[in-house]
Amino acid sequence: MAKNPIKIAPSILSADFSRLYSALDICEKGGAEYIHVDVMDNHFVPNLTIGPIVVKSIKPLTKIFMDVHLMVERPEDLIKPFADAGADGITFHVESAENPGLVIDLIRSANKQIGISLKPQTPFSMIEPFLDQIDLLLIMSVEPGFGGQEYIPGSTKRIEEIHQRLIVLGLRNRILMEIDGGIKLTNAKKVANAGADILVAGSAIFQSENPIETIQNFKEITA
Ligand code: DX5
Ligand code: ZN
Repeated sequence: MAKNPIKIAPSILSADFSRLYSALDICEKGGAEYIHVDVMDNHFVPNLTIGPIVVKSIKPLTKIFMDVHLMVERPEDLIKPFADAGADGITFHVESAENPGLVIDLIRSANKQIGISLKPQTPFSMIEPFLDQIDLLLIMSVEPGFGGQEYIPGSTKRIEEIHQRLIVLGLRNRILMEIDGGIKLTNAKKVANAGADILVAGSAIFQSENPIETIQNFKEITA
């Protein structure tokens, strides 16, 4: 079965925050389909990063889909602020929500793409009850919290298993699989073959010598 081309979601967490406009321009010129925005609250994860005010500032500068990844406690409190700021899709961690169904309802009411994420050790069974309500499944291939970490090798098998499970459930064509953490040009093909639709890449793009070319290389390498 022919697979759709892989889509690339550069994570601006690894960009130079004093030059975010330039980071967006790189994404445009490289042909990225998503801008991945990592939101961390210093509670769910140790790091503290981007709030809605930043999304609001950068949203008018690009037409690219704004893919907001919440790594926060009480995600329900942040759905409206990020939706109003210009997020096109909002993904939250199933481990962080007391009532994931409520968070899903809030994202749906805001008319945004609904994503749910799993940390590397979280059993897939935790998200099974919500699969028929989501558009995107974000599988972490590092522990969330920081850019520039090493890809956890067992992730490839996990992606394959989840891909197969979604096929069995008849949901594979409805749910996008996005993989996040430690994605480099050297492992992108393997992750794509395991079943990814979207690859997030932060340090591999923004810390490379030619970030525009690197985005293009990700596409070529996974084609
Ligand atoms: C980690 C974040 C990732 C991260 C990816 O918690 O969710 O999106 O920025 O960065 P790299 O590609 O450098 O692992
Ligand atoms: Zn992320």
